[in-house]
Amino acid sequence: MAKILLVDDNEISLMMTEMVLSEMHYDVTTATSGEKAIECLQQESFDLMLLDIVMDDMSGIETLAEIREIPEISNIRTIFLTSSSHRADMTEAIRLGALDFIRKPAYPENLLSAVQQALLVQEKDTILAVDDDEMSLLAIETLFGIRYDVRCVSSGPKALAELEKEKPSLVLLDLRMPGMDGLEVLQRIRDIDGCEDLPVVFLTADNEADTEATLFAAGAMDFLSKPLVMQVAMQRIRRILELKHLQDSLHDEVNRKTHAFHESNRRIINLSMQIIHALSGAIDAKDTYNKDHSMRVAAYSRELAHRLGKPAAKLSEIYNIALLHDVGKIGIPNEIINKPDKLTEAEYALIKSHAIKGYDILKPISEMPDLAIGARWHHERYDGKGYPDGKVGEDIPEIARIICVADCYDAMSSDRVYRKALPQRLVRQEIERNMGTQFDPTIAKVMLQMIDEDTEYKMRGNRGE
Ligand SMILES: [Fe+2]
Repeated sequence: MAKILLVDDNEISLMMTEMVLSEMHYDVTTATSGEKAIECLQQESFDLMLLDIVMDDMSGIETLAEIREIPEISNIRTIFLTSSSHRADMTEAIRLGALDFIRKPAYPENLLSAVQQALLVQEKDTILAVDDDEMSLLAIETLFGIRYDVRCVSSGPKALAELEKEKPSLVLLDLRMPGMDGLEVLQRIRDIDGCEDLPVVFLTADNEADTEATLFAAGAMDFLSKPLVMQVAMQRIRRILELKHLQDSLHDEVNRKTHAFHESNRRIINLSMQIIHALSGAIDAKDTYNKDHSMRVAAYSRELAHRLGKPAAKLSEIYNIALLHDVGKIGIPNEIINKPDKLTEAEYALIKSHAIKGYDILKPISEMPDLAIGARWHHERYDGKGYPDGKVGEDIPEIARIICVADCYDAMSSDRVYRKALPQRLVRQEIERNMGTQFDPTIAKVMLQMIDEDTEYKMRGNRGE
């Protein structure tokens, strides 16, 4: 699928053209100014640019003129979109190498045929010929000039300077030259950015096997014997360039596919995050007196995990597990969750069942098996007196021990249906008092640090409500 950069500062016109091109199954990227277009071209490669001529800050002509000055993007095939047919503009556009003009509003059939034509235009390959012998350069220019753009230079240093400015498709390099010989030139070429894989074909008068081996070992693509035999030289160069184009398009295709893969991966991750947030919102909505409890517990858990030295990649996973720790409450009636009076034994048993209920809800999510762990074991106690399984100490998964501390901290530092938030001093005392009994002492100690640093008691729920 060809990649097209569409540049237009009129958003409606941009949207309509984009729609037509997307319908035709082109991969379209849009830019609303010349400046943004240049940025896009520098970030990824495109097969074609559709460029509006009349734009506010920087006209299409000015944009293309600037692009033609930037070597790595200067070759972009360009079609102009125009509502005017100002002759000066047209002349300048042609001078800048515009392939076509499409009048706006663009009719789909005009657009399609112009785009198809432009994509068929093959740019001429460029050959940089390096030889100290003028006659030899003349022969090369005559031989290859019909089919390729040939640039000739008479020494290694001149070739290197030329390569810094513009990259050809191939270099024809004389081996024996005074001063810097071909082999040294090749080594220096490889050090130039973007020339690491540039095909270099040697021109050599000696047919020694040793020379050939040395040239190949140095990274030569091929060599041609002097004097050049027209048919052989043409065939070899044509094949090398065909191979190069195949490799380039394969490389582009791999890049495109990798980009598409990362993009779809990013979308899937975003979607998962959004679903997890929506679910945690649904849990918190049931508890009318403790809004955003899950979000705060998740934030505290992530901070605890961070301070416990968990790697950055783990932190968002821990955040998500904590966000859903109370998901089982979805199965508990609202009037019990929000009951201001003391719960009966049966009601308390029902509340406690949210741990197993949550586990059962999350267990089928096989892509994130740890989600279920937080839900099931966040009410376990370090001394084994918790629920639902009475697990003891390090038998309780660490993430559940972290959530347990964060959960109890938030319960104490938020207004509840039956009481206001506790003063920070009391919250601290409670955490300290339950170290080693209810809480894992290492994690509780980190929580105490966080409390001590929070001198304004900002880590609180339902503030000002
Ligand atoms: Fe809970």
